[in-house]
Amino acid sequence: MPKNSKHSAHPTVLITGCTRGLGRAMIAEFIQHGWNVAGCGRDAVAIAELTAAHPAPHYFAICDVADDAQVAAFCAEATRLCGLPDLVLNNAAIINPNAPLWQISAADFSHVVDVNLKGPANLMRHLLPLMLKRGSGVVVNFSSGWGRCTAPEVAPYCATKYGIEGLSQATAQETAGKVAIIPLNPGIIDTDMLRSCFGDEAGGFPDAAAWARRAVPFLISLGPADNGRPLTVP
Ligand SMILES: NC(=O)c1ccc[n+]([C@@H]2O[C@H](COP(=O)([O-])OP(=O)(O)OC[C@H]3O[C@@H](n4cnc5c(N)ncnc54)[C@H](OP(=O)(O)O)[C@@H]3O)[C@@H](O)[C@H]2O)c1
Repeated sequence: MPKNSKHSAHPTVLITGCTRGLGRAMIAEFIQHGWNVAGCGRDAVAIAELTAAHPAPHYFAICDVADDAQVAAFCAEATRLCGLPDLVLNNAAIINPNAPLWQISAADFSHVVDVNLKGPANLMRHLLPLMLKRGSGVVVNFSSGWGRCTAPEVAPYCATKYGIEGLSQATAQETAGKVAIIPLNPGIIDTDMLRSCFGDEAGGFPDAAAWARRAVPFLISLGPADNGRPLTVP
């Protein structure tokens, strides 16, 4: 059962990018707190594993968040099977291989933008009308420390995470807190993404399971008062 009384008996969280890393680690934590989980990613093997491990009322599907039609279908089916989400975690993202901007092709730059920035916008486009009509809910858009300060060799990623901050705060002004829109820096966690940019130094940071034990109660606690606030997982 959820510890936070503002939620119904079995609230629903929708997590994009749940096949690896932070997204995958959050699944078991939310289920332990009494939540139904709907999640997506592109890896068909991982989606099949998750479906076997967590059958209905949970729901896992292949969906590329950069593809608006796939997102529309995923949101509709997740809502039909699990209910309209109480909490949406726009967690899916990619990072460019370390390189200065001028060595990154236009196609690779576009792909980072399509997944990291257009992906969350796609989810919000399809879920916010129904959530606003209901008059409640929280959308957390995963930002980064690199959405608030920069580093060399990850310019496309930084650009999208600064974009997430602006996208979230502008949308928060539009919802006026009826549905809270929150840009969130998760911290620094040893995942595939961190290995890509930090190499072996990633091993000095907490793993995703330890992070999820801290992050999920924090995520469950978010509400209308947090609308538009750039937050960081404590
Ligand atoms: N780890 C950190 O230290 C850190 C720091 C700051 C911010 N963040 C942010 O936290 C979030 C999670 O990061 P992470 O470290 O867990 O990354 P990760 O280990 O690389 O996992 C990324 C997840 O996103 C999914 N994904 C990627 N492209 C997708 C697409 N087009 N459609 C659907 N799913 C897609 C991946 O699954 P598939 O490959 O199956 O699609 C995977 O499940 C990201 O938003 C990241 O920017 C992480």
